[in-house]
Formats: sequence, structure tokens, C-alpha cells
Amino acid sequence: MLDKLALTFAATYGHNAKQIVRAPGRVNLIGEHTDYNEGFVLPCAIEYHTLVAVSPRDDNAVHTLALDCDGETDQFFLDQPIEFFKEKMWANYVRGVASEMLARGLAITGCNIAITGDVPQGAGLSSSAALEVAVGRAFASNANIRLSGLELAKIGQDAENNFVGCNCGIMDQLVSACGQAGHALGIDCRDYTFLQVPVPDDLAIVMINTNVKRGLIDSEYNTRRQQCEAAAQYFSVPALRDVSLDLFNRERHALPPLLAKRAQHILEENERTLQAYEALEAYDLPRLSQLMAASHRSMKDLFEITTPEVDFLVDAISHVLGDQAGVRMTGGGFGGCVVVLAPGARVNDVIQTVKNCYFAETGIKETIYLTKPCAGESRIG
Ligand code: GLA
Repeated sequence: MLDKLALTFAATYGHNAKQIVRAPGRVNLIGEHTDYNEGFVLPCAIEYHTLVAVSPRDDNAVHTLALDCDGETDQFFLDQPIEFFKEKMWANYVRGVASEMLARGLAITGCNIAITGDVPQGAGLSSSAALEVAVGRAFASNANIRLSGLELAKIGQDAENNFVGCNCGIMDQLVSACGQAGHALGIDCRDYTFLQVPVPDDLAIVMINTNVKRGLIDSEYNTRRQQCEAAAQYFSVPALRDVSLDLFNRERHALPPLLAKRAQHILEENERTLQAYEALEAYDLPRLSQLMAASHRSMKDLFEITTPEVDFLVDAISHVLGDQAGVRMTGGGFGGCVVVLAPGARVNDVIQTVKNCYFAETGIKETIYLTKPCAGESRIG
């Protein structure tokens, strides 16, 4: 992948890249839709990356080549208004990051860029966050600008919120920027502090892509966020993070039933996530298994973001592995991946279970990925 990127870059632009950076996708172990409610999440970076090669230009233009989108290209100027590009969605992540960096007064400069990677797209494993973080680092390093991982993550999130139009939280970009090898990050999404929670070496992380992509993901996602914000308003607090379960249970009748369901998911998911930090630290797999099962049920029944295919897989795997594995949907929802935390010795059982039943039930072929928690964004050449 790296060699192909370097060679294609040189063939396209007539010189070698000055720098190559990479940023990983992520899998979230627990804490779903809690980030934009200023709550808690427990993701880790995965061993699948977006790579960005960059070199300076003499003018103020940005030329971009996307190796994995049939070699499509894009061009825009940093000293002219940067517009949304309806026909090439991938280009908006680059444009959005440039636009946010300029809005912050960061003096980024013209450059040639080439992009490739192996983060599965549309799988709920944050290929877009990986792209934003890698592109942000590439722009910064091309202009000799120093940026912390947190700043980089916020630029990526703002690009997504303000330019792309998805009102996502900070989780994906933050773990892509700041992930730690061998650890999950217990992030407090109010103040962006994080705990590094070791993931025992013996524990495997398996991601099973249902290969179901539903339309309207962004609009459903944004609706969930609005519903959470509306619920917070009932309690006159800035975010659902500020509502205790006691208060909620006393006053939930005052909320429209749909908002009460959404809020209940968030409040209980925060509690589960904090408990999962401890369970993972203690390598208490039966406890993790319970917490992840409860998280999945809540995403299905209260937050209503799962699909029949995702639910089917979670049931099938839980049925075989019982409390010897944690199983739940991961990511924003409406398709995407199931994550399984299981002892390395049980990985084959997970794979066999899926192979035996998923296609037979749904007529869709799954894709399976394995990972260890890996480090966040870095320069590799
Ligand atoms: C998407 C968003 C994140 C987060 C998750 C759900 O991945 O980008 O900010 O809200 O969904 O937990």
C-alpha cells in the first residue's frame, strides 16, 4: 500500500512525496452516541489506516488524487472560497479540513496530495475520521505547523459538522489521533481527558461487517442528536451528561415517550461504559459480556439504531460464546459492524458461527476483520 502510494504520487506529480502520514480507523467497545452528549466512550484505534502523501506546491492550490476512488482527482484554491463538491463526496473531507484550518487562522499552504488506505468504507469503522485526521496532519506538516492530537481531532470533527453535514461527536477523530497501542481509550467527552485501559494480549477484537448499508444514515444520526438535545432541554441542562438516572426516573413522565427512550439509552450507556472501564481493566469477561449485551439491547430497543442483520449476528454469536465474549453493534448504527471481544482461543468459534449462519439467513456475505488496539496518527515517511 505504501509503495503503491509513493509510486503513484511520483508518477502523477513528477516528484516524490515530501511526507507520508497515516491515521487509523476505530472500533468502539462500548459507549454509543454518548460522545455528543458529553458522556463516556471506550474505543480503540484499529490496524487499518488511511495514508496521505503530500508535497508543497509553488501556488496556493491543493491538488488531490484518491487512489481508491478510481483515481479521481480534485483541485481547489486556498485563497478562494472553498465550496462543497456534490459529485465527489470524498473530496469534501479534504476541502472541509482545509476550510476549518483556515477558519482557525492556520496558515496552510498549497500542496499536492495522494490518498489511499484499507479502512473499510461504510462499515462504521470511521474511514472518514481517519481521512480527516490524516489530511489535517498532512496540511500541518506541509506548512510546518505544530498541532496536538486533540486540535487535529477537533478540526476533523468541525470539518464533518460544518462542511460535510454530519453532526458527529469527537470520539472517532480523537481516537484516530490519540490511540495507544495495546489500549482502549476511556474518553470523557466533556473535557477530552482519557484513561488508557489496557486490552489484555490474550483478548482478540473481531469486527464483522454485515455489509448492510442503509440510506439516510446521516439524517437519522442527526435526528438522534436533536432528540438528545431536546431531552436535555427538558431538564434545563447543557447536555444529558448532567442528568442523573435518579432524576431521570423521577421526571421521565414529563418527556414525550420517544425522547424518554433516547435519554434512557444515553444515561444508562454512560453508566455501563464507566463500569466497562473497570471490567476491562480487571479482565472480567463475564461482566464485559453482560455490559455489552445490555448496550446492544438498548441500541436496539431504546435508541433504535440497529438492523435485523446486526441483531441476528449478535444473537447468533452470543448464543455460542455465552459470557465468554462481549458482543454488540459498534459505531453510529443503521448497518455496519458487530464487534466481538473474545479470548484468542475462541476466535475460530466466532468465525465459524458467522460463516455457518449469516449468509444462509440473510443472503449477504459478511466480511471479518481482526485487530489489536493500535497507535493513533503518525508520520511514516
Ligand atoms: C459515529 C460518530 C461518533 C459517535 C458514534 C456513535 O461514529 O462519528 O461521533 O457519535 O457514531 O457512538
